[in-house]
Amino acid sequence: MLISRAPRFTSNDITDAKHYLTRREWMLGAAALTLLPGESAAATPQGEPLKAARNDAQSLREPATKFESATTYNNFYEFGVNKPDPARLAHTLKPRPWTVRVDGLVHKPKTYDIDDLLRLSPLEERVYALRCVEGWSMIIPWIGFPLASLLKRAEPTGQAKYAEFTTLLDPSQFPGQRSSLFGFSLDWPYTEGLRLDEALHPLTLLTVGMYGQVLPNQNGAPVRVVVPWKYGFKSAKSIVRIRLTSEQPATAWNKAAPQEYGFYSNVNPAVDHPRWSQATERRIGEFRRRPTLPFNGYADQVAPLYASLDLKKYY
Ligand code: MTE
Repeated sequence: MLISRAPRFTSNDITDAKHYLTRREWMLGAAALTLLPGESAAATPQGEPLKAARNDAQSLREPATKFESATTYNNFYEFGVNKPDPARLAHTLKPRPWTVRVDGLVHKPKTYDIDDLLRLSPLEERVYALRCVEGWSMIIPWIGFPLASLLKRAEPTGQAKYAEFTTLLDPSQFPGQRSSLFGFSLDWPYTEGLRLDEALHPLTLLTVGMYGQVLPNQNGAPVRVVVPWKYGFKSAKSIVRIRLTSEQPATAWNKAAPQEYGFYSNVNPAVDHPRWSQATERRIGEFRRRPTLPFNGYADQVAPLYASLDLKKYY
């Protein structure tokens, strides 16, 4: 994001790599996998199991990224700017009690207790690709239900055109929200936004778990959004409010660097970030970069949403 660092493998990538790399490649890889001084691979305790039926129609057939990598290589600036920070520090986040307010341009505003929210709709497991704007990607089996199920209950008014997502603001739980503790600050709380048709799209997942268990704190407990055809920063973590608006909402990264992080931020190999190419990506756990797919591979399902939009202008 703003602070660009060379992507690193974590030690957890080593185990799988042995199975498919040649001996020479593996030795080269092992050198790259060495942790930097002072950097420890944070342990992630297994969370509470969470049952969900796999939605095969909406799941990739690719093998999932290792759980250890998905939970120790994170972006969650409320806990710091380095990839291992969230796993190290996220124990201060308290995912209970927790409420999510759905309001704004709706006929039925409501505040949901998180445990009621979990029971609102049948939980599904969906294996999605996550592509970060920084040029790395993962395959993650998320658990949740379509955000549309929640939004439709609120009965959006005819004026509602956008959805705004707000992360919890609480510096006692999020050390990164104490003014520039890590030498860098977003305008807290983290907010993100979607057009209403994007928010209602069947791929957009209100997410409460991953890998068969409740969402680990560093991945956005107790509830986040996952929008698989957009760069990862559009998927706000630890949300407390969803507000429907008539105007396009201001969003955290767009406010910080509008020329780098657009409101749409659809994964697009043809539109480079001003400071790096978006044509390829590094799948965490793999050795070589692979081509990035338009809309992160979901073009069949979402390209029609943008039929009349110049995607270079609306990046
Ligand atoms: N949400 C909040 N509140 N704060 C953040 O810093 N980072 C975003 C997104 N959601 C972020 C956030 C970015 S840049 C990415 S790539 C994804 O979360 C990473 O999700 P993951 O750590 O579960 O892989």
